Amino acid sequence: MPGQCAEFIPLEFPKRRLVPPGWSCLLAEVVVVENESVAGELVARSIRALIAGKPDAVLGLATGSTPLPIYRALARSLATDPLDVSRVRGFALDEYVGMPAGHPESYRAVITREVVEPLGLTAQNIHVPNGDPSAIQTAGREYEHAIVEAGGVDIQILGIGRTGHLGFNEPGSSFSSTTRVKTLTEETRADNARFFDSPDDVPMHCVTQGLGTVLRARHLVLLAFGAGKATAIAAAVEGPITASQPGSAIQFHPHVTVVIDEAAASKLANLAYYRHAWANKPTWQGI
Ligand code: F6R
Repeated sequence: MPGQCAEFIPLEFPKRRLVPPGWSCLLAEVVVVENESVAGELVARSIRALIAGKPDAVLGLATGSTPLPIYRALARSLATDPLDVSRVRGFALDEYVGMPAGHPESYRAVITREVVEPLGLTAQNIHVPNGDPSAIQTAGREYEHAIVEAGGVDIQILGIGRTGHLGFNEPGSSFSSTTRVKTLTEETRADNARFFDSPDDVPMHCVTQGLGTVLRARHLVLLAFGAGKATAIAAAVEGPITASQPGSAIQFHPHVTVVIDEAAASKLANLAYYRHAWANKPTWQGI
């Protein structure tokens, strides 16, 4: 299972460049915010505007703790000022392999609990990779085709692991990789043990979108909070582009927004410039 090769699907970078011509996008836009709740409100506003203009928008959904403030802010916003979200589509980044159906920590269950229900999305429109071992040979290819058929992801929400992983693309993942089975590092299993009764219960394998899949989304929004993420964020935003730091794949993408708190920003060398650029951002330009 772990050695399985993904079918080769040629990389197709976003055709529609969202950054207006003439604007520099050599560096990711880095937005340093006071706290997670401000980050959640900022990204939720952007997602809301996307859906208002494109009612069948395709959302790329991360799990874990980091994106929760976005989902909660969006749920609050939709409760006070409703918007038709019945046609919104979504693709989760990853799923554990071999979790019993209905396990509360399967990412299918997490996405249902944290995203589909609070936002009132249509369950059939929300996809999660199939982590059933009996389907594993075709799960990656089918997921890739479903994303392509949906027209690609409009906005991809990302967290980052302490190992630098995006999705569950652990160090060494190819920048061209597509959805496939990966083996989690022990560091990631230890980090995710907080969601399980025992560290031994954390699955060893997952099905994750590849870095190539993630890079095809039209807008990447990477969030991180806390000092534990500072090294991974510095490597992703400013480090050399290397498969040893999967987060550095974002440097290939033309439209990336990195939303982080002060602690996660603490190892960035160009912090003063990011603050300056954000403080002087034209009001007409969203994230
Ligand atoms: C989740 C995912 C992972 C997490 C990362 C950070 O779908 O793919 O990359 O974003 O492990 O997890 P948290 O947010 O729990 O720190």
